[in-house]
Amino acid sequence: MLEKIKHDAGSINYSNNSGAMGELGFDIDGYKNALGVYISFLVSKLSDLNNNLTAWKPDAQCPVHLFARQAVPMVWDFAEANPIGESSGSLLSMIKNLDRGFTTFTGISRCAGLSIQEDATNQAITSGKVVSTDPPYYDNIGYADLSDFFYIWLRRSLKKVYPELFSTIAVPKAEELVATPYRHGSKGKAETFFLDGMTMVMKHLAEQSHPAFPITIYYAFKQSESKGKSGIASTGWETFLDAVIEAGFSLTGTWPMRTEMKARQVAASTNALASSIALVCRRRTLDAPSVSRREFLSALKAELPMALAHLQAGNIAPVDLAQAAIGPGMAVFTRYSQVVDAEGQPLTVRAALALINQVLDEALAEQEGDFDADTRWALAWFEQSGFAEGEYGVAEQLSKSKNTAVGGLVDAGIIKSGRGKVRLLKPVELPDDWDPATDTRLTVWEMVHHLVRVLNKGETAAAELVAKLGSKTEVARELCYRLYTLCERKKRANEAMAYNALVQSWPEIQRLAREAPRAEATSTEDMFEQV
Ligand SMILES: C[S@@+](CC[C@H](N)C(=O)[O-])C[C@H]1O[C@@H](n2cnc3c(N)ncnc32)[C@H](O)[C@@H]1O
Repeated sequence: MLEKIKHDAGSINYSNNSGAMGELGFDIDGYKNALGVYISFLVSKLSDLNNNLTAWKPDAQCPVHLFARQAVPMVWDFAEANPIGESSGSLLSMIKNLDRGFTTFTGISRCAGLSIQEDATNQAITSGKVVSTDPPYYDNIGYADLSDFFYIWLRRSLKKVYPELFSTIAVPKAEELVATPYRHGSKGKAETFFLDGMTMVMKHLAEQSHPAFPITIYYAFKQSESKGKSGIASTGWETFLDAVIEAGFSLTGTWPMRTEMKARQVAASTNALASSIALVCRRRTLDAPSVSRREFLSALKAELPMALAHLQAGNIAPVDLAQAAIGPGMAVFTRYSQVVDAEGQPLTVRAALALINQVLDEALAEQEGDFDADTRWALAWFEQSGFAEGEYGVAEQLSKSKNTAVGGLVDAGIIKSGRGKVRLLKPVELPDDWDPATDTRLTVWEMVHHLVRVLNKGETAAAELVAKLGSKTEVARELCYRLYTLCERKKRANEAMAYNALVQSWPEIQRLAREAPRAEATSTEDMFEQV
């Protein structure tokens, strides 16, 4: 760690560096300042774990740091770490962690970086930039407010090292691009502030970035926030995309990236976003055509199914599918200078997003063509009733339209029928000794639900089943996406999580199926016991 500090001492531009080389052969003032900066990291880590808002984590038997999520939540009691011991929250454990981090950095690169703190709406470097940015997400996180928690302590020790950075008593708030009504007076004013500011940032990026390189923007904001007239909509996404389009960008690609940890607090037992989406943008050409809504819709219908298959082949988590499909959809939308509706009015981003969602839904429904008749029946039944009981007459009627029969569905091992009622079997009810090789009426539905059942025992158990099923499992993954989408719409969180978990484990299950099995256990859901 000291090596790293000595290296940084010469390369970091501190405000009060003398640059004088001491007898030891390196910049002494720089060394002192660098040491001060790194010790201040310890101060931040200590303050995060040694305050009266740290909860107790019973399973790990240790205090949890305050910023487990981006908020300062109330807690009624708090766990007190021992700062002079060796356990969680102690100075010694922080030093060890810090050292581990630095050792990793030192191994990676010895290149000096350059960082400048600036308001993104007004940047000093005005040309030739290669830009990759992770912008603020509408009203998602109040970074400036939250930063005060650390800033006030850091300011005490680092004011002399970075006088400009620490010139204000608290973190500057006014320039922060975040749509917070309490700062701007109303929801409307906050939205306008964010849209205007973000548009200005994007315009600068469009003008100042190097023309040979696209700019990439990371976006990790879940779109399904609220349900409006036009379907699921999100002001955050719309406002952000508005700004990107207004600045003259078109989207030329989208890369979903697995950036979020499964273990983070917001992800625990929820359908929180698992990926970030990197939007790849280039300036829209001046001769971009204007098209009608109908033409836009046909382009979406022609291109989205392929994009969807591509995303699925990349094993995008079902929970992120609708979000990820915005990219290819918006790539179509932003290719045109404008899309006009029947009244000659330009189509709004909200309307475009609604159409993208609609076409995505249709594309998913079209994949039903790959399923057998029994599975198509089960899907339609599941959409209506889930795993609950329904009338025999309704099941019979549905079976005619799906070209199957209730008796056959019982034989297939999908449903239970009796006393005028019918219901789908839950994964926990499926037989343990099921062998697809001897199943004379093998269905995609069974494959998925047996996989959900065995995944509860671990990925190795699921891999054994996948090895027996062979290439047939690919279509099972398609069914998982469809089932997840249905569950999300019907707010059946428990089942949704199990289908999502199955897809997320897919690459590992496939790998284990190809290689020799090894012992391990990852649990999915409770196989719908509570449904
Ligand atoms: C999504 S966060 C980026 C987080 C970062 N990738 C990380 O891992 O720490 C967005 C960042 O934009 C910053 N920001 C907000 N308004 C800004 C402005 N006007 N100029 C520059 N940065 C701004 C926020 O303070 C926040 O740090």
